Amino acid sequence: MEKRHITLGEFIIDNQKHFKYSSGELSRLINSIRLAAKIVNHEVNKAGLVDILGEAGDTNIQGEDQQKLDVYANDVFKSALINREIVCGIASEEEDDFITIQGKENCNSNKYVVLIDPLDGSSNIDVNVSVGTIFSIYRRITPEGTPVQPEDFLQKGNEQVAAGYIVYGTSTMLVYTTGHGVNGFTLNPALGTFYLSHPDMQFPETGKIYSINEGYYAHFPQGVKDYLKYCQAEEEDRPYTSRYIGSLVSDFHRNMIKGGIYIYPTSSKAPQGKLRLLYECNPIAFLAEQANGKATDGYQRILDLKPTELHQRVPIFCGSSIMVGKSRSLYGEIP
Ligand code: AHG
Ligand code: MN
Ligand code: MN
Repeated sequence: MEKRHITLGEFIIDNQKHFKYSSGELSRLINSIRLAAKIVNHEVNKAGLVDILGEAGDTNIQGEDQQKLDVYANDVFKSALINREIVCGIASEEEDDFITIQGKENCNSNKYVVLIDPLDGSSNIDVNVSVGTIFSIYRRITPEGTPVQPEDFLQKGNEQVAAGYIVYGTSTMLVYTTGHGVNGFTLNPALGTFYLSHPDMQFPETGKIYSINEGYYAHFPQGVKDYLKYCQAEEEDRPYTSRYIGSLVSDFHRNMIKGGIYIYPTSSKAPQGKLRLLYECNPIAFLAEQANGKATDGYQRILDLKPTELHQRVPIFCGSSIMVGKSRSLYGEIP
């Protein structure tokens, strides 16, 4: 007999009292993300059987080839949010600009905007390796009832009211925070229900895993090379072990459970880094801090950065606090 677990639906209702402005709107919003996650999960699970693998034939605003599943996941999350009229704006890694959602009377009275990386780890789609979805939620700062503006999306990460991810892995999990710790829910595919399986997730203070694409070693700044040498040194607690899936969501999820650091630094090939501040780094940093970990751009907290552009990229060092602290001491000498 399975242990009685709380469902995600029950958890959302039970925890509504934690929200600063508890009108039920944020709960409904998380509920529709839950629904979209189940739909995308269904498609990801049978991806090899239907014509959804491979490239869509287009590139996104950042010049990256879009995969069919990128486009599919983007459409599913967008329609789940738009049809239910629960947000006033959406920004997506796969869209050129943010989307303004017009309500019934042509002016939207909803308070929240959602920023999303609908399918993270695109390069893993065709080879049956886990991928994910990342989301980030803010309260708008411009007046309700008017069309959303760029400043509603360009808020610092520390203004997030909720953030999370779905990992479509050996099992599918939805992990999220509303600023009161991090909780993980596993999908029972037979029932189509998420159950609380990982309450109050915490990064171990330190760990033995470092995750970075070492193929770019020659292009890394000296401080990153120094940190990698530190990870590889023969010492009492080292060498660490290297694990890199190439899906941020999956690498982060593993490191949060086992203890580790994830790094996507600047390099001579990617002078700003690769990962996107709004769709990837801010939500991941919020989760990291809520789970007792850290996230920096090498110098300062990711959550303190003031975004200037929707598709802005930043370097990221995130994970167990002692490991991120050490990387900062080797890398983060202000130049
Ligand atoms: P996306 O699929 O949303 O474009 O993100 C891919 C990201 C991230 O998930 C991953 O960690 C990283 O790109 C991998 O990049 P490299 O192949 O350069 O290591
Ligand atoms: Mn991504
Ligand atoms: Mn993506």
